[in-house]
Amino acid sequence: MVCFKELAQEVKEEVIAWRRDFHRHPEVSMKEFRTAERVEEELRKMGLEIRRHGDTAVIGILEGAKPGKTVALRADMDALSLTEENDVPYASETKGLMHACGHDAHTAALLGVAKILNKVKDQLPGKVKFFFQPGEEVALGAKLIVDAGEMDDVDAILGIHVWADLPAGQVSVEPGPRMAFCDMLKINITGKGGHAAQPQRTVDAVVAAAATVMNLQSIVSREVSPLDSLVVTIGKMDVGTRWNIIAGRGILEGTVRGFCPELQAKAPEIIERIIKGTAAAYRAEAELEYAKLTPVTINDPQLTEKAADIIRRLYGEESLASIPKQTGSEDFAFYCEKAPGVFVFMGAGNEENACYPHHHPKFDIDEGVLDRCVALYAQFAWDFLTGEGK
Ligand code: NI
Repeated sequence: MVCFKELAQEVKEEVIAWRRDFHRHPEVSMKEFRTAERVEEELRKMGLEIRRHGDTAVIGILEGAKPGKTVALRADMDALSLTEENDVPYASETKGLMHACGHDAHTAALLGVAKILNKVKDQLPGKVKFFFQPGEEVALGAKLIVDAGEMDDVDAILGIHVWADLPAGQVSVEPGPRMAFCDMLKINITGKGGHAAQPQRTVDAVVAAAATVMNLQSIVSREVSPLDSLVVTIGKMDVGTRWNIIAGRGILEGTVRGFCPELQAKAPEIIERIIKGTAAAYRAEAELEYAKLTPVTINDPQLTEKAADIIRRLYGEESLASIPKQTGSEDFAFYCEKAPGVFVFMGAGNEENACYPHHHPKFDIDEGVLDRCVALYAQFAWDFLTGEGK
């Protein structure tokens, strides 16, 4: 049995150096050109087969010595539109862009995994696919890789996210829904504008919009089981031009999130009924534009147990933590629709330098957990392909 805890130590310094290099050079979603080039360059040095999709998706392929199953390991590569406020030697060199979610850590760790798995490929059955995906923050990268057919031969997939809300050393790997589905909606309300002093000659879009916002609140309270959770948020309301004009049209924008795929399927129908009925009550009209951005990220119970078992073996039972499922979303969910998957939250917070939340200008991680990411990815691939472990 190969233990990847030690092998991960051998690449630790290199992984930290890669992470800092990526951190200094953050790139916009779907335009991670430099990052993809660097990744490809490193994979090429290792002698891996490489495939590219779109502009910036990089797939590394490691063929074992014997035929067998295929496992995919995923890292995302994109940064966020934020100006970094950390005073560190590896701070972002691009104003207005920052790795504020830890995707730099994922990319670096997965390169380390490729390096150590490559060392043992002569003993490895099957195939490991390394997904370096673009555009997680815009939910386009995973879809690109799925649409390119890269999941078609995959039997299992693991994704890791460094997690600032969890102390370094703690790992959450739990079965079932772990991150919410995320939908985006836009409602166009059409009335008839006119003079503020003559409402009887108008159809007031402000009143219809206000009533629509209020009536949408009843979805969670009246149409969803109290045992299920759902978020319906209208985040933007654009209606009217000035104080003495009755608005003829209005636009509402919002999001729907939850953990139940059936609710995601039903949501557009419910919303359409409420907005059309509400608009009609005020003699207005409403049209719905609805986009399903990501499905629910659901951890496969068996793979979850496999990953938890690895954490137990390598770092002890006390490293396993339990955290609630997250109302944020992950495009990792698209992979889980194609094959069983598991998504792990790797605690990376500490009180010294990593105490700010994700997407914050002072976000940083405890780099001491990078080797744990490497070891978990690698051991998972090994155990899955060799049938060792649980
Ligand atoms: Ni993220």
